[in-house]
Amino acid sequence: MVSRRRVLAAGMATATGVTGAALVPTAATPAVGAERAGAEPAADTGALATTPFTQAMPLPRVLSPVSSVGGLDVYVMTMKPAMAEILPGIRTRVLTFDGAFPGPLIKARRGRPVVIHQRNRLDVPTSVHLHGGEVAQEHDGQPMETIAPGQDRTYFYPNNQPHASLWYHDHAHHLESENVYRGLSGSYLLTDDHEESLPLPTGEYDLPIAVRDANIDETGLHYTMSDRQRSTMLANGKAYPYVEVAARKYRIRFLNCSNQRYMELGLEDGSEMVQIGSDGGLLPRPHSTATLPLSAAERADVVIDFSRYPVGSSVVLKNSGGFGNPELVGQVLRFDIVRTAEDNSSVPSVLRELPPLPQPTAERTVTLRMDEDGRADPHAYIDEKLYDPSRVDQQIRFGASEVWTVKNLNQLAWHNFHMHLVQFRVLERDGRAPGPGEAGLKDTVNLRPNETVKVQATFDAHRGSYVYHCHMLDHSAMGMMATMKIS
Ligand code: C2O
Ligand code: CU
Repeated sequence: MVSRRRVLAAGMATATGVTGAALVPTAATPAVGAERAGAEPAADTGALATTPFTQAMPLPRVLSPVSSVGGLDVYVMTMKPAMAEILPGIRTRVLTFDGAFPGPLIKARRGRPVVIHQRNRLDVPTSVHLHGGEVAQEHDGQPMETIAPGQDRTYFYPNNQPHASLWYHDHAHHLESENVYRGLSGSYLLTDDHEESLPLPTGEYDLPIAVRDANIDETGLHYTMSDRQRSTMLANGKAYPYVEVAARKYRIRFLNCSNQRYMELGLEDGSEMVQIGSDGGLLPRPHSTATLPLSAAERADVVIDFSRYPVGSSVVLKNSGGFGNPELVGQVLRFDIVRTAEDNSSVPSVLRELPPLPQPTAERTVTLRMDEDGRADPHAYIDEKLYDPSRVDQQIRFGASEVWTVKNLNQLAWHNFHMHLVQFRVLERDGRAPGPGEAGLKDTVNLRPNETVKVQATFDAHRGSYVYHCHMLDHSAMGMMATMKIS
């Protein structure tokens, strides 16, 4: 085991033609938490944690309800530590929902509520949040409403909203960053009649893929806040896996469940993917793109037609976003085209009609800023304030439809902006119309340094207090979170 990393590094250098020089550590890291685009000097020490594409990417286990009577699906999940094989042949301690890394997949449908009994058998408090869900305050998994170790809590999800690619994760105050990093997240796919009426790929041709980074080696998964050594890329809990596909169309639902890594995913041959959805379900129209930008917590739903590749060939899914050594963070997984298959699926030219935006009833401005001068104990602020769970930062009238102008005041640090309870619309990005990938319903929106984004949200689902925050969880744990009260 001692020489493992050196052996792997040497193997990789041979396999890819990387020279020794490229593996040498580079300049000191910039300000803590500053997330930059791919051209930045690497902060990594160099070696790939494993030979890529040697392990198969699993699909998440679909959780079965313990009861389905009366139009209600009841699930039980136990949060517990487990050992996961993230690097081949090496067992790593992780925190899980129900023993799975990432957690099991919940399949829900509109109009059919879900109840989840969550049993916390970890030694830390947790709070389970359904990200993107329209959920009553007491079931929202608020930062202070934690489940103590050994305790249970029941969450009720009404599923009254349209189809969406939701996900669930820990949200315990000051702990969410490490808890989610160590494994406490999973997907929750909510469908509806409209989505099911479309001829999109389904069943085994519909793949949920959760991508993230990690600082991992044979001694374990390492967490420190704003760590710049998270340079191993995982897909569904495996480092650099391969995925066997047939030469036909697949629907792939990407979730970036990283703590803070911004990604730009694309196929190594630069060929097009058809984006059909984002956080809050299908886009109005499909659009072709070679690059999928995905900040932490965002989702992108795409159709990739593998029939353009011969059986027996492979194509790597690359990442060109975020900091780090491109030799390490620049690839995610490899699709291996292993067979032919029939394909009756297609992507309609109109995917959904979104309701027209109501006349806004209020406007607000929100600023995001973190200390980026390299100080030892950086904090992160919304409107120059640290999160205080006892303070209400915005009072909102129930039924209001509001335009929020969100500004990233940092020169180096990237942020994003997530609101609980609502799926909003992105109106503008630095004064211009947003790109076609942001034309649907969103719950998280990326903000580059100095960028300003306008969103419109309508608060007509529930009354109560909910948080909004940067979803780079190291930042929210540093204070970049605030409370809105709808009444
Ligand atoms: Cu994924 Cu407060 O959220
Ligand atoms: Cu941030």
